[in-house]
Parts: sequence; structure tokens; C-alpha cells
Amino acid sequence: MSDRYAVIGNPIGHSKSPLIHTAFAKATNQDLEYTAIEAQLDGFAAVVHAFRANGGKGLNVTVPFKLQAFELATDQLERAQLAGAANALKFEGDRVVADNFDGVALVRDLQRNLSVALKGRRVLLLGAGGAARGVLLPLLAERPAELAIANRTVEKAQELARTVGAGNHIVGCGYGDIAGTFDIVVNATSASLKGELPPIVPAVFATDALAYEMVYGKGLTPFLRLAQNAGVKRLADGVGMLVEQAAEAFVWWRGVRPQTRTLIDKLTVPLT
Ligand code: ATR
Repeated sequence: MSDRYAVIGNPIGHSKSPLIHTAFAKATNQDLEYTAIEAQLDGFAAVVHAFRANGGKGLNVTVPFKLQAFELATDQLERAQLAGAANALKFEGDRVVADNFDGVALVRDLQRNLSVALKGRRVLLLGAGGAARGVLLPLLAERPAELAIANRTVEKAQELARTVGAGNHIVGCGYGDIAGTFDIVVNATSASLKGELPPIVPAVFATDALAYEMVYGKGLTPFLRLAQNAGVKRLADGVGMLVEQAAEAFVWWRGVRPQTRTLIDKLTVPLT
């Protein structure tokens, strides 16, 4: 029987994970089956345990279960700990190991796919919720010159900056207090999902800046439109991050790294 994996969320209908992992398995000759499971909002743990009891090897976890996945795990890896959230689980004997690949996927997408280096650059992260927390440590590991975290609820940004050692190079602030210009501006708020815009001014973008929207497949979101109107030439959405986080989970589970370029191209929706 093929090894079993799945993505679990609610809703799950639009998840691209089965398509991505099935393509990875085919390309790397891995014998596995990957499905999508919709758990009831109060039924997450029961579904996970049943999947595992039936021989499941690992799960991707998406909204709204990332926090519960973290709490359910017996072993929580460092990136998942800072995020307080897991997007992948691996079942090893009686252990349930949790990791979070969002940040490493963002870094890979920026550096390898978009050829944007982070070292010595000024990075602005918009938002201080789960999505922002998930990417913080891997971003910092690339040693940007500055990492500013801006959030509507200012205390959350300050708290997040403190957690990772706020200092000269890491600041948490409100949107009105963003100082200077930035080479890379990442929208990690959920504003775009509601057609809303974090209140930033066009002046935050440095010359040749990259505007990166973590949401994917929505074309030109209000944030990307603002960047475009501000003269930013380099715009990206989260499609690369989506495929790269899947690749990281695949490597973790299977020990084989799949190519990502073809799938990213296939899933890309034009930013118009
Ligand atoms: P996620 O797990 O997707 O990050 P979350 O933890 O609910 O979801 O966090 C949502 C983030 O988007 C928060 O940073 C939120 O700001 P607040 O902490 O002030 O609530 C931000 N956000 C959501 N809608 C927004 C909007 N219209 N403008 C600015 N920020 C917004």
C-alpha cells in the first residue's frame, strides 16, 4: 500500500496541496497517496488521530488548525515554537513532530526564485499574526540590515520584535511610525483576503524594492496595486512560497527534494 499523506483544513476545497504533492511524488518516483481532508471545527484532533491510526505518515495543516496542530504535537521544532503554529506534522512511532515551513519557504522563494538577497537589506514585514510569526526566524537568519515589523495593533508588533530580541536592527511599530524606506516589503496581514489594505504610505518602498504579497492567486491585491502605483517594478504573490513550503514538507517526509519551478509557473496567476 502507498504511504498516506493529506492536507487538513476547513474549508479545504480550494487547496492546491494534493495537486502539488502528487506532482512531486510522480517526479521523484515516490509511492505515496495525498488527499485533502476537511475536519469539523471542533474535530481536528480526532481526525488527526484517526488518520494516523490508519497508517498515515504526515499531514499538512492549514487554516484554521495551525495552532491546534502545534499544541497536539509531542515534539515542536524551533520555528514552529516561535510561530506557535505548525503547518506540517510527521508521525514517527508514538511521536507527532510539528514544524513550520512558511518562513523557510518565503526565504527560498525570495532568494532562489526571485533572486532577491536578504543579507544587508532593509525588510519591512506587515502584520504580526500567525503568518508573520511563522516567517520571522528564517528571515532573521539571513541577516537583513533591518527588520521592521509594523502592525495595526502596535503592541503585537512590539511584542513580536521583543520575542526575537528587539534592538537596533529589529523594531516593532505601528503603520504611522514606519521610518525610512525598505528594499523588501512583505504583506503578512490577512487584509488582502478581505480586499483591504494595511495603511502604508508609498514612500516606504526604496528604489528597486520588491513588494511581496503572501496571499496567492488573487492577482493584483490592494497592497500590490498600491506598490505598483508607487512605481514599484518588482511585484510577487505567495505562489512560490506555497510550492516551496510543500517542497520542504516533502523533503522532511520523504528525504527527496523535488523541483519546484514547473509547478510555480503552472500555478501562477498573472498580477494584473
Ligand atoms: P494570520 O494567521 O493569517 O496571520 P491572524 O493571526 O488573525 O491571521 O493575523 C492577521 C494579521 O492581519 C494581523 O496582523 C492583523 O492586524 P491586527 O493584529 O491589528 O488585528 C492584520 N490585519 C487584518 N486585517 C487588516 C487590515 N484591514 N489592515 C491592517 N492589518 C490587518
